[in-house]
Amino acid sequence: MAKFFLPPNSRIKPGKEHPAPEGAANVRTFKVYRWEPDSGENPRVDSYQVDLDSCGPMVLDALIKIKNEIDPTLTFRRSCREGICGSCAMNIDGRNTLACTKAIDEVDGDVRIYPLPSMRVVKDLVPDMTHFYAQYASIKPWIRTQTPAPPDRERLQSKDDREELDGLYECILCACCQTSCPSYWWNPDRYLGPAILLQAYRWIADSRDEATGERLDELEDPFKLYRCHTIMNCAEACPKGLNPAKAIAEIKRLMVARQ
Ligand code: SF4
Ligand code: SF4
Ligand code: FES
Repeated sequence: MAKFFLPPNSRIKPGKEHPAPEGAANVRTFKVYRWEPDSGENPRVDSYQVDLDSCGPMVLDALIKIKNEIDPTLTFRRSCREGICGSCAMNIDGRNTLACTKAIDEVDGDVRIYPLPSMRVVKDLVPDMTHFYAQYASIKPWIRTQTPAPPDRERLQSKDDREELDGLYECILCACCQTSCPSYWWNPDRYLGPAILLQAYRWIADSRDEATGERLDELEDPFKLYRCHTIMNCAEACPKGLNPAKAIAEIKRLMVARQ
């Protein structure tokens, strides 16, 4: 499996050591990226020894335990703890994933935790999602229609039309795929990236949407869409098992079909 390290481990200094509590018998070490841009100091990796006998099974459980019991300055995002909100996305053991669905047992040895690669860091494990959300807004992620809605009910879909959205609607916008895509690392300002293109296709594929032509026009650009070189890191990274590269290929197919 591909692993993504950014920035390289070797350039980050070891930081503070937090030893295990006395008498702990089942200890794992968590090596966690720490950085406060306003401090003027370089990033470091702090080491926390956690007693797993008093910790939940997931990496997020360990982070919460560290914050509650060892070091309240550690900063990370989380909300649902169910793999639904996407806010706990980070790089664990070299892979982008969700801390709440990643079991500590799945990692051999020390558990290395970094923020999602290639994004500006706000603090510690918190990436700045501003640009990602602006790109999401740019694809107009809502149903666009010209015809008036039926007066007495919502716009309906057949079962088959609804099934066209399977593999798309489940996206939680965690950005694990986006930040594992080499094409996005090189062109984050102009390439929309796998997560945003999967979302773009989600609306193109929606039978209720009446703006397919405009949506394709808006993607017809050498950078927005065509920087995908089918490297497939995105599908490998997605913690929901989705395949953004397939959605991108579908958009490209529609582009060709309408020529
Ligand atoms: S398949 Fe395309 S979008 Fe996915 S990682 Fe590769 S270049 Fe990026
Ligand atoms: S496609 Fe998967 S990895 Fe990418 S943003 Fe959606 S849920 Fe996250
Ligand atoms: S906390 Fe919501 S996905 Fe992990």
